[in-house]
Amino acid sequence: MNFYLAPLAEITSKEFRLLCYEGGADGCFSEMISAKAVTLRNRKTIALSEIDESEPRTFLQFFGGDPDVIREAAEKILERVTPAGIDINAGCPVKKVVAAHAGSALMDDPERLGKIVKTLRGVTNLPLSVKIRKGFKTPNYERCAAEAVDNGADFLTIHPRLRTDMFTAGTCDFDVSIELAEKLPVPVIHSGDIKEKSDLDRFKGTKIAGVMIGRGALGKPWIFRELKGGTVTDDEKKEIMAKHFRYYLDLGTKTAHTMIRRHASWYSTGMKVSADFRNSIFNPANDIKEVIEIINIFFDIKL
Ligand SMILES: Cc1cc2nc3c(=O)[nH]c(=O)nc-3n(C[C@H](O)[C@H](O)[C@H](O)COP(=O)(O)O)c2cc1C
Repeated sequence: MNFYLAPLAEITSKEFRLLCYEGGADGCFSEMISAKAVTLRNRKTIALSEIDESEPRTFLQFFGGDPDVIREAAEKILERVTPAGIDINAGCPVKKVVAAHAGSALMDDPERLGKIVKTLRGVTNLPLSVKIRKGFKTPNYERCAAEAVDNGADFLTIHPRLRTDMFTAGTCDFDVSIELAEKLPVPVIHSGDIKEKSDLDRFKGTKIAGVMIGRGALGKPWIFRELKGGTVTDDEKKEIMAKHFRYYLDLGTKTAHTMIRRHASWYSTGMKVSADFRNSIFNPANDIKEVIEIINIFFDIKL
């Protein structure tokens, strides 16, 4: 079974992906990239497609509702970088994305999804995948998966919740992922609610080819090694964490201040007095220098 970092908007940047590779990830997915914004030459969006040369296996994920716009965006990006593959977002439940006929709206319009896959298949021979949900309002994952596969997708990821369940409501229906993996002629990856090794028990003896870890990797980029049965010492964890913060320090004060506080807060989850720690780092009176001092003391590291 393969272990992937799930696409997480504003989180799975190349800095975080590099850490997850160190933490044992077999592959990573970029955050969703707006095809429309790429075609409008939005510099911030185009920057999301950057892949570090030491990233071994990173997929870029696009979202969009118009096959021609997605084609143009993919062509533009593939002139600049060669990802391990391209993933199409057919799962995002956010209103703005759905209103643009993109993300999970594609589950409600399987033919459009099929056209998007077919169009992209015509652009590249790189591996092509689609990330779907269980359905929009009602389950129709089989129909959507068939559209994807018939039009050239090499594999599929499913987050088995309905669009109406967003990320946490309803049940993350593992049986749906297992059933889809049984039926499809291509590999199926499960995404959702994998936080510890025992969560994988349900997949024993099934055809599930891999799992994606999203929220379980926040503050725990070493989770992949643990899920594979390895152990990570406290010293190794501190080393990974310090390296992570140093990446952001290299990106300038403003980015470092935002990103370090966000990730430090996740790293502190479950530790003693973590609420006090979070209050101090998010106190507007504390600038980046003070935040670093607090972090050094709290985690016993040296930045
Ligand atoms: C903050 C956040 C951002 C997300 N961004 C994306 C995204 O950009 N593309 C995508 O396909 N899914 C996105 N997802 C969904 C995740 O990839 C994943 O399918 C979902 O969180 C369930 O997995 P988990 O329980 O391991 O987090 C996002 C989820 C969260 C919580």
